[in-house]
Amino acid sequence: MAADRLIPPSPSEETYAVDQDQGEVFTEDDPIALFAAWLTLAKKTEPNDPNTMALATVDAQGMPDLRMVLLKDVDASGLTFYTNTESAKGEQLADSPMAAICFHWKSIRRQVRFRGHVTPVSNEEADAYFATRARSARIGAHASAQSRPMDGRFVLEKQVALKAAQFGIKEVTRPSHWSGYRVSPVQIEFWVNRPFRLHDRLQFTRENVSADWKTARLYP
Ligand SMILES: Cc1cc2nc3c(=O)[nH]c(=O)nc-3n(C[C@H](O)[C@H](O)[C@H](O)COP(=O)(O)O)c2cc1C
Repeated sequence: MAADRLIPPSPSEETYAVDQDQGEVFTEDDPIALFAAWLTLAKKTEPNDPNTMALATVDAQGMPDLRMVLLKDVDASGLTFYTNTESAKGEQLADSPMAAICFHWKSIRRQVRFRGHVTPVSNEEADAYFATRARSARIGAHASAQSRPMDGRFVLEKQVALKAAQFGIKEVTRPSHWSGYRVSPVQIEFWVNRPFRLHDRLQFTRENVSADWKTARLYP
């Protein structure tokens, strides 16, 4: 298919002009508080999963990898997500415990980027979160060898049935290969769409996770 039919054309001067200017959006001095404010806004307007984020890691050859995951917690210590620790991302993080994260909320035309150091969450924290998941999702975590080749969908369904039978009416506890990671940022950048592509960018950086934040405005 020709690219000009698949990709929308660049906006006309007219379209640019109707882009609404959002006024003051950098409403907090602290970047985590600012992120929380933007996420709260995105929750009201995004059609689904405003907590979805692109998570980038690198493999042993230094080649970047990227996939979407769900943000499950955020505070001053960082951003937490959960996954299979034996997955591709899990292996990459074991080798190179650094990650980049990007949120893009189309409905409010804003982006937030993070770069930081990654540490596994404690077993207690992972257990507590796992316990909040639906029973079927907990069984799924036992059944799926995430990122490894699978001989057809039926094999997965058989594993799910097997695990469900094994647990019976017992509590489905967290498998040791399923846990969470916390990305503690040393760089956070906020981007907001402005008319005529003269967007606004505010970057926070710090030398390490216990240092103070410094801010800079960047050209779009
Ligand atoms: C909207 C969305 C949310 C997702 N959330 C998660 C998640 O929280 N944890 C996870 O392990 N995979 C999640 N996935 C699946 C991942 O994108 C990916 O397929 C999987 O984690 C395997 O990635 P890997 O092979 O790079 O390790 C999500 C996918 C989408 C599209």
